[in-house]
Amino acid sequence: MTEQLRWGLLGTARIAQTAFLPALRTAGHSAVVVGGRDIGRTQLFASENGVNRAVQGYEAVISDSGIDAVYIPLPNSMHAEWSIKALEAGKAVLCEKSLCADVNQARLVIEAARSSSMPLWEAFAFPFHRQYERIVEILSNGAIGELREIQSHFHFQLTDPTNIRLESALGGGALYDVGCYPIRLAQLLFGANATAATAIASWQSCGIDIEMQGVVEYSFERRVLFSCGMLRDTGTYARLVGELGEVRITNPFHARGFDTLEILSAGKERVIENAGTSEPSFTALVRHIAAVLRDETDPRHLAVEDSLSTELALDMVMRSAKTGVVSRTA
Ligand SMILES: NC(=O)c1ccc[n+]([C@@H]2O[C@H](COP(=O)([O-])OP(=O)(O)OC[C@H]3O[C@@H](n4cnc5c(N)ncnc54)[C@H](OP(=O)(O)O)[C@@H]3O)[C@@H](O)[C@H]2O)c1
Repeated sequence: MTEQLRWGLLGTARIAQTAFLPALRTAGHSAVVVGGRDIGRTQLFASENGVNRAVQGYEAVISDSGIDAVYIPLPNSMHAEWSIKALEAGKAVLCEKSLCADVNQARLVIEAARSSSMPLWEAFAFPFHRQYERIVEILSNGAIGELREIQSHFHFQLTDPTNIRLESALGGGALYDVGCYPIRLAQLLFGANATAATAIASWQSCGIDIEMQGVVEYSFERRVLFSCGMLRDTGTYARLVGELGEVRITNPFHARGFDTLEILSAGKERVIENAGTSEPSFTALVRHIAAVLRDETDPRHLAVEDSLSTELALDMVMRSAKTGVVSRTA
């Protein structure tokens, strides 16, 4: 393993350009190769984004002996196939969320990750962010008592009618795109698997959920109330409600330097803290992966630990949303 981790990218995705590659540069690593369906477009992407080489197709990336790790920002429906292939090719893998938009595919990926000597992460960057570490510290110090309820929104406005999120066959829809964040947050903070779910959705004629609201339940009367969608201006927040107070987080999933945590504890002055860093939100995750591959630290939040629980919860939510609302009759 060289000092600098050498990354390969599958596809010329927007998220690679706007979030992953800036974080990689901040962390001092580089992308060695990008593979795409159209070689001309892939070459342009490589030259505009500081990637050394462009190749035709994804197979050429995962079989490249000059890379240590593969980043997979393909549409959700393609995550299973390419994560499994990259693990089998002996690469460490960072696959975008949602790991899969189908729980049976997720089981196959987790099985492949369990039998591989290489690690797989699902690209939820927030658990590696300094802000999340501070949240865990606040909760374990008992500042708000036992955590009982999480209220969390993740909305943004999708204006491009050709976007992958509007294609059912590509694993699109609001739940698997952004609703997965509040559900992952709840799973991590409650340290438990979801036990039940109730949800309602607004469906598009193309078959995807454009908005969804719901409740996911956990043992000991704990729950997350979530709302997600692709119709409004970007807005995220989380409110962690405990028995003795609450924590309000302005940007729980991609915190920037100016985002804040507000701690309200019974009988105490309100405290407002800064999220802590203005580095691109993937930076801490990218640093963690490098440290693991250099044997400097134990892996945290591997897909084998976290992802199947999230997929099972998402599956329950989706089944509830599809069953429909039961209305009271006169
Ligand atoms: N963790 C986060 O913060 C975060 C944020 C945004 C998105 N994401 C995730 O990242 C993934 C990509 O999202 P994105 O917004 O970056 O999407 P995008 O710009 O549309 O990129 C997807 C890439 O997949 C490739 N692709 C392969 N088959 C395709 C098909 N049939 N249709 C369209 N593209 C296809 C394309 O690359 P080539 O044509 O070059 O092969 C395309 O550039 C999704 O899983 C999404 O959930 C994560």
